[in-house]
Amino acid sequence: MTDRYAVVGNPVAHSLSPQIHAEFARQTAQDIDYGKLLAPLDQFVPTVERFRAEGGCGVNVTVPFKFEAFRFCNEPDDAARAAEAVNTLHFHAGRIFGFNTDGVGLVADLECNLEFPLRDRRVLVLGAGGATYGVMQPLLKARPREIVVANRTPDKAVALVNRFRQAQPVALEAKAFAALAGSRFDLVINATSAGLSNEMPPLPRGIFAEGALAYDMVYAKTTPFMTFARNEGARTADGLGMLVEQAAEAFLIWRGVRPQTAPVLADLRAR
Ligand code: ATR
Repeated sequence: MTDRYAVVGNPVAHSLSPQIHAEFARQTAQDIDYGKLLAPLDQFVPTVERFRAEGGCGVNVTVPFKFEAFRFCNEPDDAARAAEAVNTLHFHAGRIFGFNTDGVGLVADLECNLEFPLRDRRVLVLGAGGATYGVMQPLLKARPREIVVANRTPDKAVALVNRFRQAQPVALEAKAFAALAGSRFDLVINATSAGLSNEMPPLPRGIFAEGALAYDMVYAKTTPFMTFARNEGARTADGLGMLVEQAAEAFLIWRGVRPQTAPVLADLRAR
């Protein structure tokens, strides 16, 4: 019998996940069906419960339900607990297991696809919303020298940093955008939603160190942040690789095999 999976979100029509998982399944000869579930904003749990009752084996969770998915699952993994957000649910042995593969996906994209090792790098993360919470723990585990979190609403950056500050060798600090002037970073990750509305976080000029990488979690468009970074001489990357890598981690959780991501990413880029 074909095992069923889906991505649940609102909106969800634009999601590339069905395409990505279909390609993973073909590549690894796994018999799965992967669809899209549009959940009304107040109907996340009933929508997922119905899918599960009909035999669904797991779901990927996207905006705006990742926090609700965390509360819904019985057994969150470490990354999910750290983020208090879940992007992958696995229904197994009568229990609901929750995972957050976003951060591992981001780190895999940076280190493997973009060949940008994080160890000892100076990292600036823009934004202190759900996207940032989702990736902080794996970013810290990769042992950069420092992570500065800058946010338009500075209090939210402070709260985030306080959540993740533990006994660890990574210097972690919250800053307002204006306080970034004069600092230089090897990697700047845009985890704000500014690019979606063609806006740009108010970054000062001169923050990119020699050979710096500017990474925008948004994909399928060139954001004002990426244009700014290019003009400042930085190398740029969008979030398509992160999308494919987090999907590969979910596939591994569900199916016990990690598919090759490079051909899938190349194929999506070619389109
Ligand atoms: P997500 O789940 O995508 O992170 P979110 O939790 O709503 O969504 O967070 C959006 C983030 O983008 C926040 O950090 C927000 O800054 P504020 O906390 O000050 O609202 C940031 N953001 C959105 N639009 C922005 C803009 N035009 N300039 C700078 N930051 C922006």
